[in-house]
Amino acid sequence: MPQLTGKGGGVTTAVLPVAGLGTRFLPATKVVPKEMLPVAGRPLVQHAVEEAVAAGLERVVLVTAPGRDLALRHFEADPELEAALAARGRSRARTEIGALAALGSRLEAVEQAEPLGLGHAVGCATRSLGPGPCAVLLPDDLVLGPVPCLRQLLDVHERLGGTVLAVMELPAAEVGKFGVVVPGRDDGRVVEVRGLVEKPAPGTEPSRLAVVGRYVLSPAVCAALPGLTPGHGGELQLTDAIAATVGEAPVHAVRFEGRRFDCGSPAGMAAAGLAATLADPALRRAVAASVQELLADHRGNGDPA
Ligand code: UTP
Repeated sequence: MPQLTGKGGGVTTAVLPVAGLGTRFLPATKVVPKEMLPVAGRPLVQHAVEEAVAAGLERVVLVTAPGRDLALRHFEADPELEAALAARGRSRARTEIGALAALGSRLEAVEQAEPLGLGHAVGCATRSLGPGPCAVLLPDDLVLGPVPCLRQLLDVHERLGGTVLAVMELPAAEVGKFGVVVPGRDDGRVVEVRGLVEKPAPGTEPSRLAVVGRYVLSPAVCAALPGLTPGHGGELQLTDAIAATVGEAPVHAVRFEGRRFDCGSPAGMAAAGLAATLADPALRRAVAASVQELLADHRGNGDPA
């Protein structure tokens, strides 16, 4: 798999790890993998592939668990379905199904034999990529906003090189569930990263800047992945590989514009579904009355609604 060159500071490939167990979303994820759960009518993996393509990337590598190929099948051409939709005059649905196959032509898959951690999953993909940088998107982190989150990171990468992370500022009580940045110079949007701590214990957080699921990784990070040893929770952590390159290659964090939803949990998924629905004018019109009625149902139940 040689790296292609193109727009994005040499970044042309997005890695999408989807081989995790998805335990927070059981029983929904017992049979249907998390990345196939829909938000506003499209599975999470489709949102992530579309974001990578909108950001200007050419190729997407899915890291899948053995025997779990639904995400790949979602992007396969289906001429029979297209013909059936054409016969019924369903031209919009037909166009959407045709567009999926076009996205599928950019897709490849590698297998992660065991879910040993995010660092291991990304390493399964990067060992077969060339020596250049790459992007990583976690499909269960959905980011909605006017400019794709990954595009915002690539813009910073084109300017500063190295590794670029998406971060958001969180209350102290919440930041410990994430990788957290040890900050250096900070211009209000882009922060120099002097270190990273995965899920710091309460009271030891180096900042309130939490890393979320969009990354541009320098070649140095990709080179560090095969040497990872178990970190927080006994997993091979991507955070540790990035931290190991601080001082060797630039690492920056970007306070991205947009709203991030943790679609790995039922509550985050529900919020994402509502946000994506309300952001689409046609869907917004279709659900507006129901939303008003539902809020009215709960008025007086002690809720602010
Ligand atoms: P999560 O941290 O959400 O883990 O992974 P998970 O296993 O999917 O879910 P929970 O915590 O058990 O509910 C973030 C992303 O990294 C992938 C997941 O599929 C998800 O897209 N991942 C994680 C892997 O591909 N392999 C791993 O070993 C771990």
